[in-house]
Amino acid sequence: MNKKICLVTGAGGSIGRAMTNIFAKYNFIVVATDINMSGIHEKDNIFKYHLDVTNTKEIESVFDNIKNNFSVVDVLVNCAGILRSKPFENLSVEEWNQTISINLTGSFAVSRRVYEHMMNNHGGVIINISSDAGEIGSTMSSADYSASKAGVIALTKCIAREGAKYGIRSNAIAPGFVDTEMLKKFEDYWGKEKLEETVASIPLKRMAKPSEVARLAYFLASDDAAYITGATFDINGGSCMN
Ligand SMILES: NC(=O)c1ccc[n+]([C@@H]2O[C@H](COP(=O)([O-])OP(=O)(O)OC[C@H]3O[C@@H](n4cnc5c(N)ncnc54)[C@H](O)[C@@H]3O)[C@@H](O)[C@H]2O)c1
Repeated sequence: MNKKICLVTGAGGSIGRAMTNIFAKYNFIVVATDINMSGIHEKDNIFKYHLDVTNTKEIESVFDNIKNNFSVVDVLVNCAGILRSKPFENLSVEEWNQTISINLTGSFAVSRRVYEHMMNNHGGVIINISSDAGEIGSTMSSADYSASKAGVIALTKCIAREGAKYGIRSNAIAPGFVDTEMLKKFEDYWGKEKLEETVASIPLKRMAKPSEVARLAYFLASDDAAYITGATFDINGGSCMN
């Protein structure tokens, strides 16, 4: 099989769908996975599978399917995630654990399985979707979210360091505000006005489009980025400058 394979988690969401579309457009076979199957639109080279990233049995079964029906995974994009907006004093340990388990442990578990594939084959690229909240903490999302996304950045660096000898590269993308369903959570909690005020304070005066985040991921997966690994790329319209 000549076409490269890209596995996307959280592919039923706004950014995951944009990832699926760009990799499919550039001739990848995309294995698009989510717990929300209705968000994935299957077509020629897009195949959808149910995958809850917290379920190790399901990860194994998706990998068996990939092995049997396609080939090895060349690119993994870890997009699955949840966001919560809650004051610190109201955040429960259960809520904390749930977010860490999906956003961080889920990214680890899928990466760990893909890494093995890549290690035994020809290398590959792992792209993790973090957030500016993981770099600076967030005043709008809660601590569980920021901590999970900081963990994703550290996970990315570890994969990059250890994977380099096998030809595996890994980079993180840290978006600011992206115009997606997820942001409705902010609006529900903080109100429309506060969200508009925050967007107005962004130097580029708008949110990112999901396709802009996807284009960055596509670049990072390409050979043009062959010397880039262990890095975190901000895409936030200037709202957070490191
Ligand atoms: N929207 C933003 O402004 C923004 C900013 C920074 C980072 N991000 C990150 O980008 C990624 C995509 O977010 P989005 O904005 O497209 O949100 P979204 O809510 O549209 O998509 C997230 C997807 O993850 C899926 N998901 C949730 N739990 C899952 C699980 N256990 N297993 C598998 N899939 C699961 C959901 O079903 C959903 O389809 C997330 O990791 C998010 O944290 C988003």
